[in-house]
Amino acid sequence: MALVNEHYLKLQSSYLFSDIAKKINTFKVTHPNKEIIRMGIGDVTQPLAPAVITAMHKAVDDLAARETFRGYGPEQGYSFLVDAIIKNDYTARGITIEPSEVFVSDGAKSDTGNIGDILRHDNSIGVTDPVYPVYIDSNVMAGRTGTMENGRWSNIVYIPCTAENDFVPDLPSRRIDMLYLCYPNNPTGTTLSKKELKKWVDYAIANDVLILYDAAYEAYIQDDDIPHSIYEIKGAKKVAIEFRSFSKTAGFTGVRCAFTVIPKELNGFSLTGEKASLNRLWNRRHTTKFNGTSYITQRGAEAIYTPEGKVQVKATIDYYMTNARIMKAGLQECNLKVYGGDNAPYLWVKTPNGITSWKFFDMLLYELSIVGTPGVGFGPSGEGYLRLTAFGSREDTQEAMSRLKSWAK
Ligand code: MLT
Repeated sequence: MALVNEHYLKLQSSYLFSDIAKKINTFKVTHPNKEIIRMGIGDVTQPLAPAVITAMHKAVDDLAARETFRGYGPEQGYSFLVDAIIKNDYTARGITIEPSEVFVSDGAKSDTGNIGDILRHDNSIGVTDPVYPVYIDSNVMAGRTGTMENGRWSNIVYIPCTAENDFVPDLPSRRIDMLYLCYPNNPTGTTLSKKELKKWVDYAIANDVLILYDAAYEAYIQDDDIPHSIYEIKGAKKVAIEFRSFSKTAGFTGVRCAFTVIPKELNGFSLTGEKASLNRLWNRRHTTKFNGTSYITQRGAEAIYTPEGKVQVKATIDYYMTNARIMKAGLQECNLKVYGGDNAPYLWVKTPNGITSWKFFDMLLYELSIVGTPGVGFGPSGEGYLRLTAFGSREDTQEAMSRLKSWAK
């Protein structure tokens, strides 16, 4: 008799975005003639950059000839990609990262979800609230979250980020061992300045806290004072793991490529207090459970760092950020309070007249055929908000705003 991992039984029956997909399918069946505009899940819509396509075609050709064929690659990623990452994402910002500190993977969702494999089951956890649900659910699966009481896990410290504190999290009220930070933030689309992030790094250094820093949306940053990497903050290499992704940077949500940086100087501890290199533990885990991102994908990812690739990728990001501006202006014209969207592809909208997130979600779906994501799905402090993404086409974005404006009148 195979016993199951009982922790899975504590999870809600399905993942937030699967729940929403079910609701959309029901709506489609009952309203077959409605044109749905999807601003719910943060999935990209614009094609890959031509430089990426050319590089991937060439990589296919490499695999067609005996001389250039590749089988298993290094689990941690080919050096051509790792070197391009270091040069462009770190050296260019004055950060020194060694090749053996970078682990190429198939996604930041996988990496943020799997990182708990190398951490003890009874670490206490801090999350900013609202939060990307993967951080919570993957810890529930590991048995790290305690029990659910009034919609909150007992071993998680929820650090509220709402309009009341300008979406800047306060230091936690009780001890935590590991902390998830995502900036630019999913779901609120807000950011932390260097000074605000430094407060967290200093806190982590003083209290032996491990920061799990998800920077999947850094390519959307427009303002100079906002850090792209946590390693821009002095001392962060001692306390932080950084997750990056090509999904939103270069439209790889379907292609799948990301990387995680684990500095050599970052340590966890054994129960008896001995230091243990997290880089070494993750390398062991990665080489055991992962066989590398495909050669074709890594060649495509490398191409975003070529001069033409950089221009093309930036043009797509500008396209989405123009959507974000159109949305922010449109939503404000409807007298809705909107946050985020200036340095991130997400807009965080306060629900009108204090209605709940799900009520607003249903209203937009059933009255305007627009899909958002209810803020409460991201955590208790998300109640009373709804997230919209700027990843749609320009036509859909404009059409959604015009539907909203007519509805608001
Ligand atoms: C989101 O909508 O929050 C993201 O697309 C989910 C993800 O990146 O996995």
